[in-house]
Amino acid sequence: MPSDSPSEDFPAFLPPTPEGVARAAELLRGGEVVALPTETVYGLAAHALDERAVRYLFAIKGRPLIDPLIVHGLDAEFFASLAQFTPEALLLAQACWPGPLTLIVRKTSAVPLLVTAGRDTVALRAPAHPVMRAVLEACRLPLAAPSANPFGYLSPTQAGHVRASFGGRVPWILDGGVCAIGLESTIVDVSNPAVAPRVLRPGPITPEALGQILGRAVEARPPTPPAAGAGLAAPGLLARHYSPRTSLGLLEAANKPASPPVGRRVAWVRLQRPKPMETAPRGVEVFWLSEDGNLTEAAHGLYDLLRRLDPAGYEKIWCETLPEAGWGLALNDRLRRAAGQG
Ligand code: TXA
Ligand code: MG
Repeated sequence: MPSDSPSEDFPAFLPPTPEGVARAAELLRGGEVVALPTETVYGLAAHALDERAVRYLFAIKGRPLIDPLIVHGLDAEFFASLAQFTPEALLLAQACWPGPLTLIVRKTSAVPLLVTAGRDTVALRAPAHPVMRAVLEACRLPLAAPSANPFGYLSPTQAGHVRASFGGRVPWILDGGVCAIGLESTIVDVSNPAVAPRVLRPGPITPEALGQILGRAVEARPPTPPAAGAGLAAPGLLARHYSPRTSLGLLEAANKPASPPVGRRVAWVRLQRPKPMETAPRGVEVFWLSEDGNLTEAAHGLYDLLRRLDPAGYEKIWCETLPEAGWGLALNDRLRRAAGQG
């Protein structure tokens, strides 16, 4: 196991070249865990049908065994032996894959219950990142991959984030640059054709877009509160998740944070660059996600900014909430969870 190797050798960064891809594929075949880039966030990947490798993955991430994993592949055909696609699941796969959409469908017995945390459904995604796809082409294995962050912390959007969180405990990181999207995939439950499809985690593909593809309304929100004893529809919906360690608070766009006590500092994260006459209260340092309030850009940079602010000694990080539509649904969802108000 890599943990027996001298720690200064790890993590090893593999380049996004044919050699790097071939090495990652070989490691995954051998039951190792490798961090891989996707267009949403970096994933911590292992051979999904190798229970030993999946157990090792849960252990590295510190993830409770009750929280199921997403299985990654090339397309719907790639998953044929692993799941039963309903007609609606197939429509969405054809329209949105490769891309930032995760489908919840019924699994076959080929998928270990360890991967699905005992459920009879499995989460599937065909990612679009060319380096991730090259690895899938090379190893031809379904890859279980949660976001490559310690359980509950902010997702990583670049290779350096993975190293910063895990050090040598994640021995191999395939460096595919900065993730184009920067926010986790939309998760939609299409496992039961008798009930309306339901978004379990808002993301880059909106409920409206899904509804248009299917020609029927898609429930935009997970059931809340979860029925007693039924468990969480998606444990990523835990009230506190995707959180920095520094206390995070939410502010409506019109409100300013108050000055902290003298000698202390707070950070104020805004959607767009403030106008020159907009002043901040004393002790409040202002950051922005986009020059002009572009939400795609805001999503792209959110986790990186929070990761940089987290260790910087602020008493509190205040984040401006965004209009509740389109990207705003996903961004506000992550901000609320980061604030522990999911
Ligand atoms: O963009 C993404 O989806 C990234 C990249 C790496 O693909 N992955 C990701 O994985 O965000 P993870 O493990 O951090 O989040 C997956 C979420 C979890 O909240 C999990 O509970 C939920 O998917 N999930 C997995 N299987 C499920 C199932 N059968 N039913 C309901 N929710 C499920
Ligand atoms: Mg995650």
